Amino acid sequence: MLLLNLIQKTLSDWISFFADRLLSNVKKTTCSMRLFFNISLIFLLCSACDFHQPNQKVLGTTTDHAMVSSAHPLASAIGVSVMQDGGNAIDAAIAVHFALAVVYPQAGNIGGGGFAVIRMHDGSSSALDFRETAPSLATKRMYLDENGDLNNKRWSTHGRMSSGVPGAVDGMFSLHKRFGSKSMESLIQPAIDLAKNGYELTFLGAKIINTTQEDFREHNDWPIPYLQKSPWEKGDRILQPELAETLVRIRDEGRNGFYQGKVADQLVAEMQKGKGLISHDDLANYKSVWRTPIAGTYRNHKIISMPPPSSGGIALLQLLQGTEMHPIADWGHNVSETVHLMSELERRVYADRATYVGDPDFVEVPVDQLLDSTYNHQRFADISMKKATPSSTVSAGTIPPIESQETTHLSVVDPNGNAVSITTTLNSSFGSKVLVEGAGFFLNNEMDDFSSKPGVPNQFGLIGGDANAIAPHKRMLSSMTPTIVTKNGKLKMVVGTPGGSTIITSVYQTLLNVIDFGMGMQEAVNAKKVHHQWYPDEIRVETNALPQPTIDQLQAMGHSITPTDKLGRMDCILILPDGRLEGGADPRGDNTALGF
Ligand code: DON
Repeated sequence: MLLLNLIQKTLSDWISFFADRLLSNVKKTTCSMRLFFNISLIFLLCSACDFHQPNQKVLGTTTDHAMVSSAHPLASAIGVSVMQDGGNAIDAAIAVHFALAVVYPQAGNIGGGGFAVIRMHDGSSSALDFRETAPSLATKRMYLDENGDLNNKRWSTHGRMSSGVPGAVDGMFSLHKRFGSKSMESLIQPAIDLAKNGYELTFLGAKIINTTQEDFREHNDWPIPYLQKSPWEKGDRILQPELAETLVRIRDEGRNGFYQGKVADQLVAEMQKGKGLISHDDLANYKSVWRTPIAGTYRNHKIISMPPPSSGGIALLQLLQGTEMHPIADWGHNVSETVHLMSELERRVYADRATYVGDPDFVEVPVDQLLDSTYNHQRFADISMKKATPSSTVSAGTIPPIESQETTHLSVVDPNGNAVSITTTLNSSFGSKVLVEGAGFFLNNEMDDFSSKPGVPNQFGLIGGDANAIAPHKRMLSSMTPTIVTKNGKLKMVVGTPGGSTIITSVYQTLLNVIDFGMGMQEAVNAKKVHHQWYPDEIRVETNALPQPTIDQLQAMGHSITPTDKLGRMDCILILPDGRLEGGADPRGDNTALGF
């Protein structure tokens, strides 16, 4: 009730603000005139723009037993049919992952990597790291010129030199080995069929392939299936015979069908056409790694997320610790106090990320210290609720000494309550833009996630230091935050999104939307988002996220506001109080939640 009152008050303050502005020129205004203007403005403003109003209870797809939420309807449908056939959530996730490599080539992949967070119905949880690694010939200064400056040749983001050793195929086999119940052949087959027989482009699918034509031409010397003289249109069919052949090899020869033999030869030959570094040994030696998930609590919920080499889990829990000290539900969703607090927490947490987090197999990541409540209490103690802290005055916290622009997400829950949250990526849209000749899959440009030079931003504007410097075989730092939430020992939410550096803050806000602001899953996903990442020192604000008075208030506090088109492309599942599942599939993309 209190929340509702506050929301009404905020809305009416906001409307009065506009009304006052409009009426300031009207010399004699009576109360009834003012009321008339206010009511008209409510109707006018609500119809003119879609500012999100909490608790309006938009309901996403709901099902009784099982659900898949992914970036493409064809991939979601494949996952559902695996579970209808008796497969579990992990089987479904594997089939969806391979299908996305075909129908969502900008991010779905076999030439990239990712992370999986799993919670089985018995309450056990695990995390698989199938992140790419730097090739053995990689060096700390490989993207710098002779003056030690980052060269302007885009080597870390475009072309063969930008690729790390792919981890996705090994990852799928590792997941299957530990949890799979259906044959791997049956899980890969739907992807083979889609690659061989073709699939129809959606409007957004055609659009992204059209906008990448020039890059495809520049980085490929063979007629890749995505190149066409006339623009692609919705409904056009894309066939990928080379990719189908590669998937057949993986189906028939297992992991080695990708990391050894013909596909490995094709990949290494592709490297040798340019400055690519990946060798046969790099491929043969790639191994995904089981890690202990990051776990913490937030307002009686347990949060299970990805540990390093992702920064996501640590950063998410730091942000939640900082939020728990404040009554944001009373303040309201996307009001200036809440946005200010989130931004102040975020600039501090991203400064810690840049300094302390890297591949745990190479650097000592002070995980316990960063998650320590005393540390975070002190870390956030200097936040003023009246004014913004310039990022130039924020640096990483002092921790006690150690005692010893494409990605995609999929969420699955099966009828037994097993849950999987996978975020997987080529990094940029279509990764390096290089499609391995003859093998038909895109290679990632994940090397750009390393810090090529301390203090110099990568493509997401993220800066880093030695913890994330390039070294042979090292995994580059990630922001991917596949997350599972439980309450009272029961599964409550499966959450994740692409979005580069904005992944962490989109997951964070989605959790707040459900836990603090009482939204349903679809509503929490739809809700407009904001983002701060320390540098650049700005709050990125999604179109229509904040009304002008809130922006004015934030600017008056010293925040710089940068409008941005879209934040997040979430795929989430919420277990409703009656046990049904509600999907949260992001309307910002073709994302689709399906189930039974
Ligand atoms: O691992 C990371 O943090 C990035 N490679 C993710 C890239 C991404 O989400 C791009 N998508 N929009």
